[in-house]
Amino acid sequence: MTDTTAATRPDETGINTRKVFIKTYGCQMNVYDSQRMGDALARDGYQPTEVIEDADLVLLNTCHIRERAAEKIYSELGRIKLLKAEKAEQGVEMRVAVAGCVAQAEGQEIIDRAPVVDLVIGPQTYHRLPEALARVARGDKVVETDYAVEDKFRHLPKVTAPQIRTRGVTAFLTVQEGCDKFCTFCVVPYTRGSEVSRPLTQIMGEARTLAAAGVREVTLLGQNVNGWSGQDEAGRDIGLGGLLRALAEIPGFARLRYTTSHPRDMDDDLIAAHRDLPALMPYLHLPVQSGSDRILKAMNRRHTGADYLRLLDRIRQARPDIALSGDFIVGFPGETDADFEDTMELVSEVRYASAFSFKYSARPGTPGATMDDHVDEAVKSERLQRLQTLLREHQVDFAESLVGRDIDVLVEKPGRYPHQRVGRSPFLQPVVLDAAAGEIGDIVTVRIESTLPNSLLATGGAVPAAEARHRNAVPAEPIRKIA
Ligand code: 5AD
Ligand code: SF4
Repeated sequence: MTDTTAATRPDETGINTRKVFIKTYGCQMNVYDSQRMGDALARDGYQPTEVIEDADLVLLNTCHIRERAAEKIYSELGRIKLLKAEKAEQGVEMRVAVAGCVAQAEGQEIIDRAPVVDLVIGPQTYHRLPEALARVARGDKVVETDYAVEDKFRHLPKVTAPQIRTRGVTAFLTVQEGCDKFCTFCVVPYTRGSEVSRPLTQIMGEARTLAAAGVREVTLLGQNVNGWSGQDEAGRDIGLGGLLRALAEIPGFARLRYTTSHPRDMDDDLIAAHRDLPALMPYLHLPVQSGSDRILKAMNRRHTGADYLRLLDRIRQARPDIALSGDFIVGFPGETDADFEDTMELVSEVRYASAFSFKYSARPGTPGATMDDHVDEAVKSERLQRLQTLLREHQVDFAESLVGRDIDVLVEKPGRYPHQRVGRSPFLQPVVLDAAAGEIGDIVTVRIESTLPNSLLATGGAVPAAEARHRNAVPAEPIRKIA
């Protein structure tokens, strides 16, 4: 029997009709990686499809950060198994690949537990995807999880203008990968490997392609993005602040963001960049995880709650209208009621504009998993609920503080109705606005009328520059210093 998936399966016109369905879980870096894998597969003749039933190749790009993330993959694979059997009855062979951090962490185990899977490929080896699929087509089960010595970004095909255009006016750009911080709860140092910074010239090349294709806002990605280091054209060492300064010079880029940062790597130059660069948006995701010094120590965060608050003070001095976002874990081993109250207190001090909070989930292979005094699930749930109620209150207060103010919005896409468009505030909130206010890609000033559950509403059209009041200016409430 001839293998219809292995070689190209041409239709009558001779055009390759293979289709790939990619499902992405987890963080923005996975979104970026999925796009780059999609680009590599396109070069190999695969068209993207949103309909899993039409796919010749199903690619799950997975996340391992919390337990449920991995379990979700196994139940998805259960459904795919049925689909694959149905397609086989129709004489079509569907291939199944698992990429991402679950692939890296579990390797062969995935194929053992879910034999429907043909290929397991870790994040450091995506550039080997076409070659690995060719081996699958020859009938092999393939596991590619070595840390590659070669640079995956150099080997992945360069992103092209037409590909970018289909993705809109905002884009992700990976500048750093991996993490050496070894927080005791976290699998990232094991799944993504140690910290590697992409060289400046490679980043600038990709950035110029993005700008030339009409991208207005770029979010720099890295597990520990503010640990980025490199050299400028003169060979001087620079950090993320220097990189942002270089990117801000590229015509067309109106907005720059970066995520995710570690408090210990917020250096003076990066803080100064928040003061100096209007394109650097006044929004910072700076996880603290806990407000208790005892727990922070056990987490190996290597800073205290007070260190963090002092840092926020310095950042707010540089950029008074900055909105903050954070990540929190409740129920880390040994967390007492008093430790949790410290977290609640820190949250009340900071008043985050948005936040993500999670119940601690023991990840095999991390030091946290073998610590004593694991916290009861019921206690975790109760703490999470209290924390999320408080965080939500602050998020709503922040959104409401913008009502009646004029803010700059990047118009990103059509709205639900023809007379509407959807854009983003400087603080990353979706804004529903009147289509007459501006075209996709424009930055327009609009007056916020009201808040919706997860977005802002501004239907009054663009506010002329001369009339704009309170542009982006959210009054800064100084953070009370803990000595
Ligand atoms: N359990 C719960 N939350 C976790 N995170 C990372 N590892 C774990 C874990 N084992 C959270 C942290 C991190 C975010 C991306 O996910 O808050 O900042
Ligand atoms: Fe994980 Fe972030 Fe800590 Fe690195 S800094 S170990 S990615 S939580």
